[in-house]
Amino acid sequence: MAVWNPYTAGYFNHPYHHLADCRNTAPVQIGVHKEWLLFSYKDVKEILRSPAFGASRLSEYFTQKEPVILEKGTCPFLAKGTQSWLMYLEGKDHTRIRSLADAAIRQFNFTPAIERAVAVCFEQNKTAQQLDVVDIATQIPMYIVEQLMGTSGMCTYEQVKRFSHLLAVSQDLFVSKTTYRDVNSEFEWAFSFFGKLYKKAGTNANPDLIHFLHNLNAAEGYQLTDDEMISLITVIFMAALETTKDSMSVILHEILKDPALAAYIETATETEINILTEEFLRFASPLQYTVRVAHEDVEFREHRFAKGTRLFLCLASANRDPAVFENPDSIVPDRKYNPHLSFGSGMHSCLGARVARNEIRSWLKPVNKQLLQYKLAAGTTAVWQKTIFMRGLKSLIIERN
Ligand code: HEM
Repeated sequence: MAVWNPYTAGYFNHPYHHLADCRNTAPVQIGVHKEWLLFSYKDVKEILRSPAFGASRLSEYFTQKEPVILEKGTCPFLAKGTQSWLMYLEGKDHTRIRSLADAAIRQFNFTPAIERAVAVCFEQNKTAQQLDVVDIATQIPMYIVEQLMGTSGMCTYEQVKRFSHLLAVSQDLFVSKTTYRDVNSEFEWAFSFFGKLYKKAGTNANPDLIHFLHNLNAAEGYQLTDDEMISLITVIFMAALETTKDSMSVILHEILKDPALAAYIETATETEINILTEEFLRFASPLQYTVRVAHEDVEFREHRFAKGTRLFLCLASANRDPAVFENPDSIVPDRKYNPHLSFGSGMHSCLGARVARNEIRSWLKPVNKQLLQYKLAAGTTAVWQKTIFMRGLKSLIIERN
């Protein structure tokens, strides 16, 4: 029986052999970190949609742990910063804040923002002799998020990248005190930065998401406090940037490795691009795991989960389950049946799925055209992020042909 252990050699480069071993030999198991994990598509989907399981409470955890994590004299921002993070809310709070975020995201017109992002980012790279694939993957979602939030030109590329990445890392399985302290500092900065923007939001001539959130909150009686709103803004910022960047980095890697895939994209119709986008999302599974907690004692298959048990649902494994996906470890550009779980499912399913799909669809052809001018730089190999929950490249250098 394979016991789940993300520290087995080579896991970060290629987790899928190990995940397949776990799925085949022990699809419901207690892993090396002594918590339950589920690997099969059927089980993961059933739990995502079951009312017997809910979200874990990160903000409450931070309320208890902040005195241990933070150094004396540091202002605590961890619980405050995560209080409106939708993936850690339940019941009325979740419904209220999710409905506000959803309404605001729907009011923002993404189409021109995506078109501008694609044009500007390709112009930026036009003369580059060497590029890091991760920078190409970051540019588009970053440009879109900056337009979405109205923050263009207000902070540097490095600042935004660090902020968003640290927030994402804070949700990983094993997080050190030092990382939590860095996250706390990022939240401190974010409360000051977004706080100022939020104060001015109602009067914004160029309406952005912060403007829509502000006005909907006032007009529709959602009654979020300013602190709850800043926390919500931070989670949308992070969720919109990190997952899309990580998917794009995996997609670029696959295109660079496979000239047949590049040729397919070059001549693909709009419908074919849409189908391929779903396939890339399935294949990349940028958020590899999500967590649910048992609301009550639950009998599941031959197991019993006591109330409060945390379950790690492996979306990455579910998306490669041969019981559902034929030839699961290959990219099948015209895959006919593709009910992947890369955006989750049920109450907490991704609020930005429509936006993410549109970004990838609009970007595939132009980026493919750009990649044709480049090859993998001599002697370089892909360096993967050493994170368990999120999967994407850390660096991959390409150079002009
Ligand atoms: C390729 C890009 C993306 C992927 C793969 C992705 C994936 C996911 C997944 C797996 C979840 C958790 C689902 C669950 O636990 O059931 C989630 C939640 C969420 N995503 Fe995304 N996401 C992407 C892009 C975006 C974008 C662009 C936005 C915002 C514009 C966004 C906003 C959110 C929010 C707010 C939640 C929390 C929803 C809730 O708990 O109610 N995501 N996403």
